[in-house]
Amino acid sequence: MKYDLKFYEKAADYIRSKTDLVPELGIILGTALGAYADLLEDAVSIDFSEIPNFPKATVSGHAGKLIIGRLGGKTVACMNGRVHRYEGYSYEKLATPVRVLKLLGIKKLIVTNAAGAINLDYHVGDIMIIKDHIKLFGDSPLRGRNTEELGPRYPDVSNMYPKDLRDLAKVLGSKHGLSMQEGVYFFFPGPQFETPAEIRVARILGGDAAGMSTAPEALTAAHCGIPVLGLSVMVNMAAGILEQPITLEEMDDVTSMLKKPFLDFMAELTEKI
Ligand code: HPA
Repeated sequence: MKYDLKFYEKAADYIRSKTDLVPELGIILGTALGAYADLLEDAVSIDFSEIPNFPKATVSGHAGKLIIGRLGGKTVACMNGRVHRYEGYSYEKLATPVRVLKLLGIKKLIVTNAAGAINLDYHVGDIMIIKDHIKLFGDSPLRGRNTEELGPRYPDVSNMYPKDLRDLAKVLGSKHGLSMQEGVYFFFPGPQFETPAEIRVARILGGDAAGMSTAPEALTAAHCGIPVLGLSVMVNMAAGILEQPITLEEMDDVTSMLKKPFLDFMAELTEKI
């Protein structure tokens, strides 16, 4: 597979053939956070499976649709659902959606996810604004021949999650009654949840929340010069903290409980970012 500009342009051309809207903001919605997509007006919805060269979403809770529409005076391209390494995709393939969004015109990216709290001061239901991430495992989405038109071979990633975006999220989240934290996202490749020992290590290394997504997307965005706002919803305490297993039902309960304030927050964020 040749991941060159043409490869990404083919997907972007297909999307452009479906709408005249030119998105300025990209949003990737994490597990069970898809309701935001319904807020978009004048929206066009395109299945990932229709888009040439796009990966297909295989996980339940991820609709696998790209929705382009308007909200709060902005034109938004929203991925309702995402793809993960553990679905069997190469890291190179994981870079495709963000690169296609870049070609469509986005200038900023909001990435949401469900994550497990490693930090013992966090609570289920808190929203962690990602200050930085740790990804020690596996390859980079930027591996392989560099697509020079998109960014440099050795990108600087010391400011992937800029402070002005984090500060805005902090103010708006609190305004909407959400309990906001700021911390470090520790990437694990999954699909199994972590062992208690892995979580203890992650805590020692400086991780505040554990998750299986977001870091590859943020690296891809950083490579092509797109600032990222990362938001992690704490849907469980990470492995070994409580004496109970981690379940998907528990995650759904948390995201449905937060739905209204989270959507109001996301709507205002869309307008102000
Ligand atoms: N670990 C990794 N990913 C997750 C978790 C977790 O505890 N909860 C939700 N996604």
